[in-house]
Amino acid sequence: MQKLVIKGKRELIGKISISGSKNATLPILAASILAKQVILKNIPLVKDIFTMVDLLDFIGLKTKILKKKNIIEIRNNENSINTLAPYRLVKTMRAGVLVLGSLLTKYGKAKVSLPGGCAIGTRPVDLHLFALKKLGAKIKIKNGYIIAEAKKGLKGNTIKFSTISVGATENALLAASKAKGTTILKNCAIEPEIKDLIIFLKKLGLVINIKGRTITVRQSEIKNSKIVHSVIFDRIELGTYMIASALQAKKNVTIDKIDPKLIKSEIDILKKIGVQIIKKRSSIIVAKNKKLKRINIKTKPFPGFPTDLQAQLMVMLTQAKGISKIKENIFENRFMHVPELKRMGANIEIKNKTAIIKGPTSLTGAEVMATDLRASVSLVLAGLIAENKTTINRIYHLDRGYEFLESKLKKCKAEIKRI
Ligand code: EPZ
Repeated sequence: MQKLVIKGKRELIGKISISGSKNATLPILAASILAKQVILKNIPLVKDIFTMVDLLDFIGLKTKILKKKNIIEIRNNENSINTLAPYRLVKTMRAGVLVLGSLLTKYGKAKVSLPGGCAIGTRPVDLHLFALKKLGAKIKIKNGYIIAEAKKGLKGNTIKFSTISVGATENALLAASKAKGTTILKNCAIEPEIKDLIIFLKKLGLVINIKGRTITVRQSEIKNSKIVHSVIFDRIELGTYMIASALQAKKNVTIDKIDPKLIKSEIDILKKIGVQIIKKRSSIIVAKNKKLKRINIKTKPFPGFPTDLQAQLMVMLTQAKGISKIKENIFENRFMHVPELKRMGANIEIKNKTAIIKGPTSLTGAEVMATDLRASVSLVLAGLIAENKTTINRIYHLDRGYEFLESKLKKCKAEIKRI
């Protein structure tokens, strides 16, 4: 098992370029099933993307990853399509469940493994299935698989989600793409990654509009032309490096290949804590700030503070003066980084889904264990600011969602190596 070893307190200087968004690329790859030919640019070369491409290959699409250019080419020649997403490909990459909507709406049937839970929660897909049934799908669960059918195709309908769900919104959008008539989705998630999926679907010829949390999809012909799309930058990776810079920059760090307008809520919250940020057209400059202020935060669906930045923010709040609180409202078990941070000296208590963080505390290096993607990167942040050496085990979690993490940090003079 590979490990990361970090020597703390090295001051960061220079520039970090942000990669394309994993969580925008995954649903767009699922949407590629609907297209004839797709050229997808600015994709992050991370494990989850390779797994999703393996799934498209398994289904019968022709894919080609041009690693040097961060481009994926996908062709659907419509021969020997296998409307099956097997357990081995869905169990490690839960977003594989997103092919359900595309396969069902295009081929009238799909057999997709239930994704199962993960470290952060049970991750049910009841809202996904609720939406597909409202569009006329026959769904049954057998031997751990979702078996969906729509012999006469799907029919548009009005669907109101009881909980705001990114995945369910995406699956419903994909299923509605070839449904007859008009589909109105209410109480949708409206993350930037979903807006990027909608831009892609519009390039495919779909008529979609968003008003607040309502998304309307009107039946339209799907184009057979080549679709070229460049995915948006990864706002969670950006937030992660903004926090690293605020904590450990020598003076400041420039972070580029981004659109600052898309992360207004994260920038506002970091500014409230005292992070100095200068916005440019396609980059930001983040200065180190010793006097970070305490804050109380609740994780919420976009445009609220994202649950995917909760662990990273917690590291920052261990350095803020006073008592901060973070309430995790999205997932039931997303505090597994807390025991590891406490072993490094952090003063954090958890009381019914709220982490109470007392700061500032100086952290010391330790041997720690990554448990999920975002928790693992919070341990990297802690390692950057801790005294001495931190060794992070099980870094395969990191490789699922952070492209070239060590090289990006090494370029900014961090002392970090993979063994
Ligand atoms: C997406 O997961 C992201 N993954 C997650 O990022 C992110 O944390 C999450 O959205 C919230 O923003 C991808 O985009 C690939 P949800 P998703 O459906 O779609 C409940 C990362 O680190 N729910 O918005 O699975 C669910 O239990 C990952 O990149 C149901 O009850 O999240 C949760 O409490 C981690 N029934 C809440 O909704 C359902 O059918 C939000 O989940 C679906 C979800």
